[in-house]
Amino acid sequence: MVTVDRTTFRIDTKNTTYIFQKTKYGHLEHIYYGSLLSKEDKATSLRQKQSVQVGSSVLYDKGDTIYGLDSLCLEWSDNGRGDYRQSPTEFKMPDGSFVTDFIYDSHDITEGSIPMDTLPTAYGGNKTLKITLKDKVYPIYIDLYYSAFYDTDVITRRAVVRNGSESPLVIRRIMSMSLDLPDEGFELYTLDGAWIKEANLHKRPVSYGITINSSTTGASSNRHNPAFLLAESDAKEDYGSVYGFNFIYSGNHYSVVEKSDRDYIRVAMGINPCFFEWILPPRDKFETPEVVMTYSNKGFNETSYHMHNFINEHIVRGEWKKKERPVLLNNWEAHFFNFNEGKLLALAKEAKNLGVELFVLDDGWFGKRNSDKAGLGDYNVNTKKLPAGIKGFADKINNMGMAFGLWFEPEMVNEDSDLYREHPEYAVKLPNRHAVLGRNQLVLDLCQKEVRNYIVGEVSKLLDNASISYVKWDMNRHIAEGYSRALENQGEFYHRYILGLYEVLNRIFGPRPHILLESCSSGGNRFDLGMLCYSPQIWASDDTDPIERLKIQGGLSYFYPPSTMGAHVSQSPHQQTLRETPLSTRFNVSVFGCLGYELDLKYITREERKEIAEQIAFYKKYRRIFQYGRFYRIPSYKDNKVIWEALSEDKETALTALFQTLATAAESSDKLRVIGLNKGGYKVRTRVQRLYLKRFGGLLKHVLPIELNPEGAILRMVNRHYSLRDSVESYHCSSEALESGIPLREQFIGTGYDKNIRILGDFGSNLYITEKKSQEGEN
Ligand code: DGJ
Repeated sequence: MVTVDRTTFRIDTKNTTYIFQKTKYGHLEHIYYGSLLSKEDKATSLRQKQSVQVGSSVLYDKGDTIYGLDSLCLEWSDNGRGDYRQSPTEFKMPDGSFVTDFIYDSHDITEGSIPMDTLPTAYGGNKTLKITLKDKVYPIYIDLYYSAFYDTDVITRRAVVRNGSESPLVIRRIMSMSLDLPDEGFELYTLDGAWIKEANLHKRPVSYGITINSSTTGASSNRHNPAFLLAESDAKEDYGSVYGFNFIYSGNHYSVVEKSDRDYIRVAMGINPCFFEWILPPRDKFETPEVVMTYSNKGFNETSYHMHNFINEHIVRGEWKKKERPVLLNNWEAHFFNFNEGKLLALAKEAKNLGVELFVLDDGWFGKRNSDKAGLGDYNVNTKKLPAGIKGFADKINNMGMAFGLWFEPEMVNEDSDLYREHPEYAVKLPNRHAVLGRNQLVLDLCQKEVRNYIVGEVSKLLDNASISYVKWDMNRHIAEGYSRALENQGEFYHRYILGLYEVLNRIFGPRPHILLESCSSGGNRFDLGMLCYSPQIWASDDTDPIERLKIQGGLSYFYPPSTMGAHVSQSPHQQTLRETPLSTRFNVSVFGCLGYELDLKYITREERKEIAEQIAFYKKYRRIFQYGRFYRIPSYKDNKVIWEALSEDKETALTALFQTLATAAESSDKLRVIGLNKGGYKVRTRVQRLYLKRFGGLLKHVLPIELNPEGAILRMVNRHYSLRDSVESYHCSSEALESGIPLREQFIGTGYDKNIRILGDFGSNLYITEKKSQEGEN
């Protein structure tokens, strides 16, 4: 798995090979990263050949007319020695210059992966290779760690700087990894967005110059997720060369993709150098966050599969690893801040009747928290809303037969709070400027030990005093003024904030592994591998409109498995878009995640109640497959279709959803493709779902024996108590036929309702269950 042949280092995973070598001057030259190679393949044949002197280049050694660092594919690089591409480091060296020359010093191979002291690390690796580089002049070292995760086809990389000199080392930039790949006409895919439109996938050709994917908000951010892909230009879901990168870090990140004059693509990833300056004392070390890398020549779905497996096996940890997640009901969209015990218990009772397993009380239960203007920082329960306190309320929920979960926003404080009145110095702000607010709140300074102790003490007290089995950990503003009274060097603020956050999470949840932690930051503002080391699931977005969720969950799915995504069915028209969507589609999207409901059940009809109960029963039956099965994005040549599949581990059950984003007139028939099944005979059927008369509006008059006002009392009443059955299809066919796709019934094209017609319209969808013949189930 890790082999060293004199000067060549090779890492193999099940399907990939990674090779680099030490050059004659001791630099590390990147040789190959791609599909698994034969043991016979040697660096001499695979390396980029260098046989000419490149005009206007700076040569490393005066006796050598060819060797120039700028025209090499490197594994790590320096400043001031002729390589003009983005360097992974910027150190102020003891001589005051920025010039470095890090060359091979030693290496070491260890079993397993090696945890870091300060940062979360992927666990359960097979082997770790450590290469130590030493500056040619000063006793400053960089240890490059490579860990192989064989079965998931992942290699992780990170760097540790050690200062062996007698003076402090000023680190202005230290990437976790740097790598040069020969261009393949790459396109760069990133997940970009904003609040309520996180993680939308964007692609752009990699052209000459530098493209940066970064965040400066103090979190990994909803603007640019740290994860990205580099894919050859004609790569598809099931074809082509695709590299995937992600970062185990929740703070300001920075990735650079630079195409050089030699058509080499430098990829580097690390802590954002913006606002960063670390002063490393003598004999101390600085650990950088771990980068996750994978490769496949079988397209995007395969790269995603590697990433998903890796997260489920080597990132998510503790009792909730691979454990089925409960169906929850969260009261936020139902009540916002306006609730009392009576309202909550009524909602909980309805939820229980529908099959919900966990009731989550969101924001507004403490202090003067009746709006987002006050109360953050205070953890005393509002007894006007909850007279029996959190414990009494949690007991009532438990007595109904549901687990209880509670919302916190521990990293924040409102100026209108007892905490702020008592300890204004706990907040992040400058002594000589007015503080800037976000959602009326300030950030608590996690660089201060007292603040960390306060949060750990207050949250732990609550968790131990009531039966709380789930926590939603929210964080609702970007950090703006990076300053801590606890620090002498403010260039350390952003990173120390994240170290403080990880410490707090460790101290609270380490001793309470039974608690399921769902992290959240105004939705998916901190959807990253760092948080997933503590919270097995993350609230993907405050946007619960399923059509937006197709983009959000769809974007995230390139890197993160469904088991990590909180996904809720909410009320339509949707708060975020005013779009109206069918209840069936809201469910069909949310099943590809950790299903929850977030709506006021008081205002839904009897028919909808029945439908929700059916949905939850169905999800419980298949949730292992939805959460942990293999996820595929099925390509369609039509741009108004999104198709997702979840395949069981034994490859004998598949659940496929076909979504229509916008209807087009007289649309041709659709195909249902089911991929990845074991060979054999299968039965495929539509999951039965309800169709409401209101979908047809005024058209009803054409089919009813008497003319009725579509908005009138009679039809409203009928709608509450009666629904139609959406078209149900059922076929027997082979895995081969399913792989190539079977035509589905035609959809409504202005010809009236018939139970043999699929009624999709705008935002319609169906779910299909494919099961091996011998094990047919019910819907
Ligand atoms: C933002 C979260 O994303 C929402 O789900 C909700 O918890 C609110 N904060 C509460 O303030």
